[in-house]
Amino acid sequence: MSDKSLLIVAGDGIGPEVMDEVRHVIEWMDKRRSVKFTIDDALIGGACYDVHGVAITDETIDKAKSAGAVLLGAVGGPKWAKVDYDKRPEAGLLRIRKDLELFANLRPAICFDALTDASSLKPEFVSGLDIMIVRELTGGVYFGEPRGITDLPNGERRGVNTQVYDTHEIIRVARVAFELAEKRDGKVTSCEKSNVMESGLLWREEVEKLHVEEYAHIEFEHMLADACAMQLVREPKQFDVVVTDNLFGDILSDEASMLTGSLGMLPSAALGAEDSDGRRCALYEPVHGSAPDIAGQELANPIAAIMSFAMALRYSFDMGEDADLIERAVAQVLAGGLRTSDIMQPGKARVSTGVMGDAILRELDNLAA
Ligand code: IPM
Ligand code: MG
Repeated sequence: MSDKSLLIVAGDGIGPEVMDEVRHVIEWMDKRRSVKFTIDDALIGGACYDVHGVAITDETIDKAKSAGAVLLGAVGGPKWAKVDYDKRPEAGLLRIRKDLELFANLRPAICFDALTDASSLKPEFVSGLDIMIVRELTGGVYFGEPRGITDLPNGERRGVNTQVYDTHEIIRVARVAFELAEKRDGKVTSCEKSNVMESGLLWREEVEKLHVEEYAHIEFEHMLADACAMQLVREPKQFDVVVTDNLFGDILSDEASMLTGSLGMLPSAALGAEDSDGRRCALYEPVHGSAPDIAGQELANPIAAIMSFAMALRYSFDMGEDADLIERAVAQVLAGGLRTSDIMQPGKARVSTGVMGDAILRELDNLAA
């Protein structure tokens, strides 16, 4: 593998804390697996706004484009709640997704055996659960124009956002979903609201067409997004790969994450298209967000961030075996009974962010011995 460069944008809230644990795993990889990662750091979100007055700089966007992979912590917090939308912490995240064209967001929801009791659903509904949500990430209502708040002649105000998808945006993300299903359980569920939205109808028709023309060997179904939300808690194991738009994907992935016990467990990958050399831009981040209420207290669960790094190894560096190793180490540590607060259960040992990170390193040592 040629390029092993990482850009770390730790961001706000618990972002820097969980990224510190990821740094230790990267150091472990350097020492024990004879690979060399070069790490560059940059600001994003509120941390960047406080210094530069914007949520991400052009320089950081350039660095992100040329990095082998970007590792992101989290952005946002109440401190910046009154900042304009285009400068808010979240704008930094949206810009990096858009400028790097990271259109395919992979959000796996996997329930570790040790955590089947931590889910809000009964164990039999979640044990062995392994769903991959593929969320479209650079289109839809997040970026559609027109948008804004305008004053009306009658003294009221109007808020507008636009849900818009073009054919190619639908096809390329659906293709990612079908390709993933080929390596998994061979089933894709495509979600939209074609019963009320033209953009949903187009989504449905284009995914259907792609299925018939190129992926007819994959089991395939359409599901309305509200029905999918319901089925996710009713019978989650019916799903393998779920592909959906930006907004529904945001919502359904939060829902799916809770099936696994905690939002603190869910990693994600945001991938761009491969160029002719097989290289693609990619960003990896825990789904949990900045959790300002627990920031700085050593309470955060570093597992989602560490598992996001494992996804980087798998999808950006062709280091699938090392990714497996990290995932096994996490499973072992959970089986051993250590829990951060978010996944705490009776009879288990509550540990801090740092202790959880160290335990994963020790387990990596054991597994690699
Ligand atoms: C996510 C987050 C973001 C989103 C926010 C922080 C802008 O909720 O990654 O799921 O809505 O995409
Ligand atoms: Mg979200």
